[in-house]
Amino acid sequence: MSVKIPRGTQDILPGQSEKWQYIEKIAKDICRRYHYKEIRTPIFEHTELFKRSVGDTTDIVQKEMYTFEDRGERSLTLRPEGTAAVVRSFVENKMFGIPDQPVKLFYTGPMFRYERPQSGRYRQFVQFGVEAIGSEDPAIDAEVIALVMDIYKTAGLKKIKLVINSLGDAESRSAHREALINHFEPRIEEFCSDCQMRLKQNPLRILDCKKDREHELMASAPSILEYLNEVSKSYFAKVTAYLDLIGIGYTIDPKLVRGLDYYNHTAFEIMSEAEGFGAITTLCGGGRYNGLVQDLGGPESPGIGFAFSIERFIAAMEAEKIEWPVDNGLDCFVVALGDNAKDRSVSIVHELRTAGFSAERDYQDRKMKAQLKASDRQNARFTAILGEDELAENKITVKDMAQSTQDEVQLNDLVQYLKTKMEAK
Ligand code: HAM
Repeated sequence: MSVKIPRGTQDILPGQSEKWQYIEKIAKDICRRYHYKEIRTPIFEHTELFKRSVGDTTDIVQKEMYTFEDRGERSLTLRPEGTAAVVRSFVENKMFGIPDQPVKLFYTGPMFRYERPQSGRYRQFVQFGVEAIGSEDPAIDAEVIALVMDIYKTAGLKKIKLVINSLGDAESRSAHREALINHFEPRIEEFCSDCQMRLKQNPLRILDCKKDREHELMASAPSILEYLNEVSKSYFAKVTAYLDLIGIGYTIDPKLVRGLDYYNHTAFEIMSEAEGFGAITTLCGGGRYNGLVQDLGGPESPGIGFAFSIERFIAAMEAEKIEWPVDNGLDCFVVALGDNAKDRSVSIVHELRTAGFSAERDYQDRKMKAQLKASDRQNARFTAILGEDELAENKITVKDMAQSTQDEVQLNDLVQYLKTKMEAK
C-alpha cells in the first residue's frame, strides 16, 4: 500500500502554487509600501514559549499543539502561530534598542495545529502576518488594519467585513472578569467540562467555546465595552476615529474575544461574506498585545499585529469568482529534428534562458508533430523549429503562435529577434 499525505495537510501542485505566489507577492508589496520588513524565525520553538504567550487555558495550547521531545529531551513544539516567535526574537535580538520604534515586521510560513480538519481548516496551513512592536500610538492600530485591508482590496476581494472590539487594559479586563464569573457561576454545571474549568482560570474563554455557543447565557453575557475604563475607552475611540479618517468601514462587535490570551485593547477579525464560502468565515485575526514583550523577558514594548492564512484567502478569492492573472506559460519551445539539431537545441534553450526567456525543448525523442503539440499544450508564445537543413544554414524558423506568422531567423540573431517581437506586443 502506498503512503498517503497526513490528514489536514495538502500538496500545492503547479496550477495552484501560482495562486499562492500571487497572493504572497501582493502581500509583500503592500508590506513594502507600509515599510514592514521580513523576519524569518524557526518552525519549532521551545514549548514553554507558546504556553507563556498564547496561554495555558487556550484550545491551541491545551489541545492543538504538535509537541515532541527531541533527542536532548527538550520539549519542542511546531509553531501554531507566528506572534510568539516574533516577540521572542524581538527580545532575544534586543530589537527594543533600535532607535526607530515600532519595529515593523512581516512573516510568512507554515503553522501547525491539531484541529479537526474541514473546509478552510487544516493541520498545516500557511500564515502571512505582520507585527508592529514598540508603540502604543493608536495610529499604528489603524495602520495595521489598513495594511491588511489594502492586501485584500488589491487582490480584488469585495465581500469582506471588518469587525473590531476592545478588550481593554488590565484593569478593565479584571472588572469584566468578575462580571463574567458572576454571570456564569450560578449555572456553570450546564456548561461543558472545559468551560467549568475556564470559569475561574479564564472566564473570557467561555465566550469562545465551540460546544456551548448556543447556551442562553452566552447572548446575555456582560459586554467588555461596558467595563472599559476611561483610558481604554479613549484608546478605542482614537483607533476608530483614525479608521474613520482613512475611510475604513468596520462593525463593532463586543462579543469578539479572539482565541489567544495575549490580547488587550484592540482586537479585530476580517470575515468573508461571499456566498458559498464555507462555514468558517474568518479570513484574518489580529489585535494588540501590550505586555507580551515583558512576559517574554523584555522591557515594556507594546505591540499589535495580525495574521491570515493563504488557504482561506484563496478560498475567498474563489468564492468571489475573482480571476487569477493568467500565467503566459512559456516564451519559446524549441522543436528539433534530427540528431545534430537536437544537440544544437541544448545550447539554444540555454542561450534563451540566459537571456531571460523561459524556454523548453523535447526530452522524449518525439517526432515533429508530437513536439509541436507539446509546444501548444505548454502555451508557448513562440515555437522555434530547427531541422537539419536549417542547421546547415545556421538558421531557425520561428512561429508566432498567436499571430500564426513565421520568420526565418539567423541562429545568432534569435535572442534579439525574440526581444524585439516581445517588446512589440
Ligand atoms: P488566529 O486567529 O489564531 O491568530 O489565526 C489567524 C488566522 O490564521 C485565521 O484568521 C485564519 O485565517 C488562519 N488560521 C488559523 N487556523 C487555521 C487552520 N487550522 N487552517 C487554516 N487557516 C487557519 C493568530 O494566529 C495570531 N498570531 C494573529 C496575530 C498576529 N495577532 C497579533 N499578531
